[in-house]
Amino acid sequence: MRITYRTRGVKEYWTARWDDIPADAPMENLGVYPLKYAQMTIKDKAGEILEAGCGAGRVLRYYHNRGYDIIGFDFIDVAISKLKEIDLTLKAEVGDITNLRFADQSFKYVLAFGLYHNLEYGLDKAIKETHRVLEKGGSVCASFRADNIQTKLTDLLADRKAKSKGGESKTRSFHKMNLTRSEYEQLFTRAGFVIDFIGPVENMPILYKFAIFRSAEHKQFDENKARAEGYRLSYFGQRLQNFLMRFFPDQFCNIYVLIASKV
Ligand SMILES: C[S@@+](CC[C@H](N)C(=O)[O-])C[C@H]1O[C@@H](n2cnc3c(N)ncnc32)[C@H](O)[C@@H]1O
Repeated sequence: MRITYRTRGVKEYWTARWDDIPADAPMENLGVYPLKYAQMTIKDKAGEILEAGCGAGRVLRYYHNRGYDIIGFDFIDVAISKLKEIDLTLKAEVGDITNLRFADQSFKYVLAFGLYHNLEYGLDKAIKETHRVLEKGGSVCASFRADNIQTKLTDLLADRKAKSKGGESKTRSFHKMNLTRSEYEQLFTRAGFVIDFIGPVENMPILYKFAIFRSAEHKQFDENKARAEGYRLSYFGQRLQNFLMRFFPDQFCNIYVLIASKV
């Protein structure tokens, strides 16, 4: 386990992030994270879906627009209000994963992409809450930041950038928890889940941070576009990325995606 520190705390970071961009368009690309993994989890239209930590809403809006019964929540007010402004029919609300208002066994599926690693305290409680609100036979699909070379490099680059902006003198706050594959598995098995799938995934390749490796349409960074289409690399960038992921997947992924069931 490794902790990443940054100059801003978690809530401050996400408030600024969601304040900066409009609500997401529904995701389009079924072949990329996170929709690819949500699709592996959600096998039918029956049963309610909970999206925990829905953020700007790309997943929530995808399923809502297709008639699934889905409710999303996030602890950042501005993210939820932007979603309600763009689509009044969306079920979206402010809430915290460590203390859910929902009754036991309310959902068949829980989606929680990039959520749990934000917790400095209460991580076990959050996984237990997830387990509690799932019905028997239900599944959770979640991603967690990996503890490996790729995330260490990302943190190093972020630290250098902060220092060059004079951020060195500021207090360093908890930003994210990074876990190895086995630590991530143990977190869910401790809460009573049975793991169906766990795999290394490259959500945002470190190469994407450098314009030279981005695809022609992505040279100019546009976060909403990247969130809807996936972080697209140039031909050469993609070949290099494929090589790294083929031979060193646990070191060059940035997250682990897990699908687990409540038995
Ligand atoms: C990486 S973003 C993912 C957003 C969305 N799931 C997606 O894939 O586009 C993680 C989200 O978790 C939210 N979050 C962090 N801690 C939370 C908490 N304790 N309770 C609820 N949401 C939280 C953040 O505000 C942020 O929107």
